[in-house]
Amino acid sequence: MELREMKDEEFDSLYPVKIKKLSGTHWTPVDVAKKAMFFLCGAESKSILDLGSGAGKFCLIAAAHVDAKITGVEQRENLIQISRKLAVKFQLQNLEFIHDDLNNLDFGAFDAFYFFNSFEENINLKDKLDKENRVDLELYHSYIALLSEKFKRLPVGTRIVTYCGEATEIPASYLLIKSSNKDKLRFWEKVE
Ligand SMILES: C[S@@+](CC[C@H](N)C(=O)[O-])C[C@H]1O[C@@H](n2cnc3c(N)ncnc32)[C@H](O)[C@@H]1O
Repeated sequence: MELREMKDEEFDSLYPVKIKKLSGTHWTPVDVAKKAMFFLCGAESKSILDLGSGAGKFCLIAAAHVDAKITGVEQRENLIQISRKLAVKFQLQNLEFIHDDLNNLDFGAFDAFYFFNSFEENINLKDKLDKENRVDLELYHSYIALLSEKFKRLPVGTRIVTYCGEATEIPASYLLIKSSNKDKLRFWEKVE
């Protein structure tokens, strides 16, 4: 079946059982990925970065729908390997996965961003991604502050979509354009 036609059940079945089980908590639902991607590309964005790409679900769905270059950055190597395998399986040439801490990336190389509450794992241990997961409030707040600083330095017109969380990482220079999915999905644009 084509990636573009898959519903959540079919998409999640591409993953090993352990990874599939985490989908309800950690991976973006298909309908959310599509809404996010269409907004991010609406400003003619050529390069989109998923900040904490997990098992690649948002990136794979986005890359199957648009010509824009989609990049995922993810700190867990096993998730990067799964994502890369699926990118090859579906022959997606406009997709790349980087194994790194998202704070190490130069955000200036991208013009739109997707952020699914990636730092929540430092304050909430529900459906832990691995055994090492610990609550670390200080780390959580330092990550939010670092990300916010990086968003502040981006040019006017930059678009961000956030999914879940309080969006405290979004600086005041970004306008909330709209929201959906019971306010969990928020669409932002830098206006000053
Ligand atoms: C909620 S999942 C979202 C996955 C993916 N964006 C999706 O929507 O399907 C968040 C991911 O962010 C990753 N993550 C958390 N902190 C990170 C960091 N500092 N640098 C890179 N990845 C990070 C986690 O390992 C996890 O895979």
